[in-house]
Amino acid sequence: MPPLRLLVAHPDRDTEQAWQAALCTALPEASVEAWQPDSAPADYAVGWAVPAALFATQPALKAFFCAGAGVDDLLSSPEVPPQLPLLRIEDAGMGEQMADYCSAAVLGWFTRGADYARQQAQGQWRELPLQQRADWSIGVFGLGALGQVVVRRFEQLGFPVQGCSRSLLASGVVTLEAFLRRSRVLILLAPLTAQTRGLFTAQRLAWLPPGACLINVARGALIDEAALLAALDSGQLAAAQLDVFATEPLPADHPFWRHPRVHLTPHAAAYTVIGPAATQIAQRIRQLAQGRDVQSVTGWVRRDRGY
Ligand code: GLV
Repeated sequence: MPPLRLLVAHPDRDTEQAWQAALCTALPEASVEAWQPDSAPADYAVGWAVPAALFATQPALKAFFCAGAGVDDLLSSPEVPPQLPLLRIEDAGMGEQMADYCSAAVLGWFTRGADYARQQAQGQWRELPLQQRADWSIGVFGLGALGQVVVRRFEQLGFPVQGCSRSLLASGVVTLEAFLRRSRVLILLAPLTAQTRGLFTAQRLAWLPPGACLINVARGALIDEAALLAALDSGQLAAAQLDVFATEPLPADHPFWRHPRVHLTPHAAAYTVIGPAATQIAQRIRQLAQGRDVQSVTGWVRRDRGY
């Protein structure tokens, strides 16, 4: 049997080389090359933000492996052939980073980091009342591989935590309104799909308890950003920790940059950890090479669902 041929494409040259090396190690039986417009036909490709030409020049690909968790960009790209199976990374070290990021924000609010920083700036020595975990209920919206790790972290930290997902909403076990009304902290960890785009409108943000906090580590377009700003300005929301934005990089004149209640990071809450991610992809490629139906392979993207 001819050796499996794999292509790798990433806009950052060093990252591309790191992927190539990791996939060579994880799948020594395959040949792994960086994609070029004249690359010979390959069986599989792995990449992030890949050039559109990759798909046009590689019509024989059996599947494309997204080197990240979110496939919204791929699914909205007209260059990606509609029949090409897509698979995405599930956790592989990203969940722990998400849990670190979200718990750091919540513990900061819980221990009044910003309040004491303000007092320090004013040279003020004043002990603020102790807060109770019971008053800090955490709502995790999105219970996929990453959301589940975040839920477990907050359980370990002793906070009341509840989750909400597409399937829980569809089953009627929970309504979005009931979930939001119980969330002092709302954590967004759901994929961007036709159902979730713009889901968090002014009306829905108003379902959160007054003074709630929001963490978005999913995709900026889940929220109506103007409504979020209005909710922060009115005090309906006490704070927002934002890692993702409708437009990235965040435009220099965007009000989030200087808003006193917004803490932001440049889409850096969780990175793909190349070693474990390559191992995950290698396992899936072996399953496919052994004849397994792609639809039964973990990480396969259901296009009808959008993730
Ligand atoms: C990053 O945003 C990812 O989807 O992996």
